Amino acid sequence: MTQKRIYFGRFISTPRPDELLIRTGAVLVDRRDGRGVIEKVNWSVNGPNDAVSKLGVEAPVITTKETGFFFPGFIDTHIHAPQYPNVGIFGKSTLLDWLTTYTFPLESSLGNPKSPMYHDSSSPPDPLARAKAVYNRVISKTLSHGTTTASYYATIHVETTNLLAELAFKIGQRAYIGRVCMDRPETCPDYYRDESTEQTIANTKASIEFCKDLDPTGERLAHIITPRFAPSCLPETLSQLGTLAKKDDLRIQTHISENLNEIKLVKEMYPEHESYAGVYDHHGLLTPRTILAHAVHLSKEEMALVKARNAKISHCPASNSALGSGFCPVRELLDVGIDVGLGTDVSGGYSPSILDAVRNACIVSRHVGYLAGGNSRCNLSVADGLWLATMGGAKVVGMEGRLGGFEEGMLWDVQEIVLGDVDEFGDVNETGVDIFGWEDWENRVAKWVWNGDDRNVRRVWVGGRLVHERK
Ligand code: GUN
Ligand code: FE
Repeated sequence: MTQKRIYFGRFISTPRPDELLIRTGAVLVDRRDGRGVIEKVNWSVNGPNDAVSKLGVEAPVITTKETGFFFPGFIDTHIHAPQYPNVGIFGKSTLLDWLTTYTFPLESSLGNPKSPMYHDSSSPPDPLARAKAVYNRVISKTLSHGTTTASYYATIHVETTNLLAELAFKIGQRAYIGRVCMDRPETCPDYYRDESTEQTIANTKASIEFCKDLDPTGERLAHIITPRFAPSCLPETLSQLGTLAKKDDLRIQTHISENLNEIKLVKEMYPEHESYAGVYDHHGLLTPRTILAHAVHLSKEEMALVKARNAKISHCPASNSALGSGFCPVRELLDVGIDVGLGTDVSGGYSPSILDAVRNACIVSRHVGYLAGGNSRCNLSVADGLWLATMGGAKVVGMEGRLGGFEEGMLWDVQEIVLGDVDEFGDVNETGVDIFGWEDWENRVAKWVWNGDDRNVRRVWVGGRLVHERK
């Protein structure tokens, strides 16, 4: 049986910010070794049979609906898997009280039977069963929204962090898995804290090894070094994590400059350092493989430092609005030359959908523009937002040239989008996006971005493997 597949129909992508590329044609994918690499593309193909003859290969042809298109899979550059049960639950809190009220109790319950989450429970605590349910669900849910790659924070627990890795690998989502490092007694509760720097490093190494055993190539699954944020970690821990990342050239993820009280706390805890970004830089954590979540309040000097180190930023607009953290100046970050992608930041963010993050990025950018005196240059277009969600994300997770488009040599991490087709009676197959037929494709994409959801995601592939199909 051939391991090749031909995809025929409409292909939409965003090769550059603010540029929507709409093409019809065929793409040949080689699924050998489970990698799913695009072997050949042909944009002059005009039918399934033509595809077979022009690509010169007998292979099954998979076709988009007339009202649909292939789009690169979304990349969620910042998501907390264990926080998924809390989506929408944040009340009126802001970052620091949100962490202690909602987040630490939930995260600890995925590994610690003594978590405060179990105090009111009538059934005996079963952290492993809880982790299994949550992690299975968050992977399926994000896939159903078109997220083909996710950079996950897990919890401090090795066993269930490794379970998240195992499930992502088995279900087939491309994933970076971080065991959360937090060992500073002033800021981490007794029930949810690594005991010491030694324990932090030993547990992190255990998870690194587990991920390496699962996927020795690191292409579909890899560990990512995850100091929660500077206030959570002992300085010695930050240094040793920097050294560990350097030794194996591992990715790093953490939070930066999300909230004004957090920034104040960092100043108090690290008085000898010039800035928040400076703390990470000093400890060897500001590298081209580093994903910094939020970066809402960076100074100009910090932006220059982030750029100089070629570190990346995950913009999480839904979270920044939900927790009242502030407005991230995305256009300015891009103008400085920093690579930016999008993150849902579940559950600071209320939605597991990167399409929702695209919308929120567009909206927040308009508030930024308004606050800058009505500067429409700040406004992100639909194509800018989609670029951040795909090509921008690919740069952020170190997969530039491999993910985010339909060029030869790229991986087939793709979602098939369908839109509603309103007939002459006004009836439609319900997808939330009503297309009357006179809209051009650019406007159809705009309608998808502003009103679309998981009903529009018909099929999802990662590395050429079908990993979600909407029934
Ligand atoms: N800063 C430290 N931990 C967290 C977290 O879990 N979510 C968010 N949004 N910010 C953080
Ligand atoms: Fe976060």
